[in-house]
Amino acid sequence: MSQNPQYQCPLCQNTLLLEARTFRCQQHHCFDLAKEGYVNLLPVQFKHSKEPGDNKTMVNARRAFLEQGYYQPLVNKLLEIYRAYGQQTAKLFDAGCGEGYYTHQHKTAENTVYGIDIAKEAVKKAAKKYQQCHFSVGTLSQLPFEDGFFDWMISIYAPILEQEFTRVLSKHGYFLTVTPAQRHLIELKEKIYLEAKEHDVERQPIEALSLVHQETLSYSMTLTTGEDILNLLSMTPFAFKASEQLKHELAQLQNFQCQADFHIRLYQK
Ligand SMILES: C[S@@+](CC[C@H](N)C(=O)[O-])C[C@H]1O[C@@H](n2cnc3c(N)ncnc32)[C@H](O)[C@@H]1O
Ligand SMILES: [Zn+2]
Repeated sequence: MSQNPQYQCPLCQNTLLLEARTFRCQQHHCFDLAKEGYVNLLPVQFKHSKEPGDNKTMVNARRAFLEQGYYQPLVNKLLEIYRAYGQQTAKLFDAGCGEGYYTHQHKTAENTVYGIDIAKEAVKKAAKKYQQCHFSVGTLSQLPFEDGFFDWMISIYAPILEQEFTRVLSKHGYFLTVTPAQRHLIELKEKIYLEAKEHDVERQPIEALSLVHQETLSYSMTLTTGEDILNLLSMTPFAFKASEQLKHELAQLQNFQCQADFHIRLYQK
């Protein structure tokens, strides 16, 4: 890791200092750095379930799917927008980073990159593979960072907590969101629902921020193997609707055409 990460104690909001693999605040709250290089900043009293967020099977499926490059056009677009609007030296934050696929692609020689997710399995995998970024387990509803800490924040298919995100964003800082657009994965949905509904893309504006840019990115993917289709399915909120028989059918398919349709919005404080 290049430089020690700067976290706030999730219990008392004092600065955490790293000494011999333990983060400590002046009130003696301690958080150990795990062997993979992440820190768990989610105190038990903040947990609403034993294993919050995505489980290991979902995390493994997401990594396997993303590493096939099907969402590379989205990565290219995100980096293009970052280069056009962002500063080289920015402090960047991926809110709900999952296993770090998008997070690490934003790392440059000059910036500092943080990722937080509530799913421990995802953060563990992210930290192990992408050691140049700072990963921690935490909740988006109470971020362990001081006010105005970040110049660039991203949220890709993850919950947006407007008030808390606005708090940690610097003055004039940017916040980029990716959400599903109307026809995202429509062919896969058609396999599951008799009448597949298109995504509802209406979104309330984020009150404290101004929308400075928005676009949709649409393209057709050819999912080469049944394994890719099943991995993609398990990343979706409708995975639980698929019967065992349907999964078996999907596993036999090859070269399945499926639409990717992303809505990208850039806000500024
Ligand atoms: C659909 S996944 C997207 C992950 C990643 N951004 C990606 O696109 O690969 C949503 C992520 O949000 C995380 N998440 C959901 N609620 C959260 C919360 N309250 N605090 C932190 N992370 C949360 C989940 O664990 C999951 O990893
Ligand atoms: Zn503390």
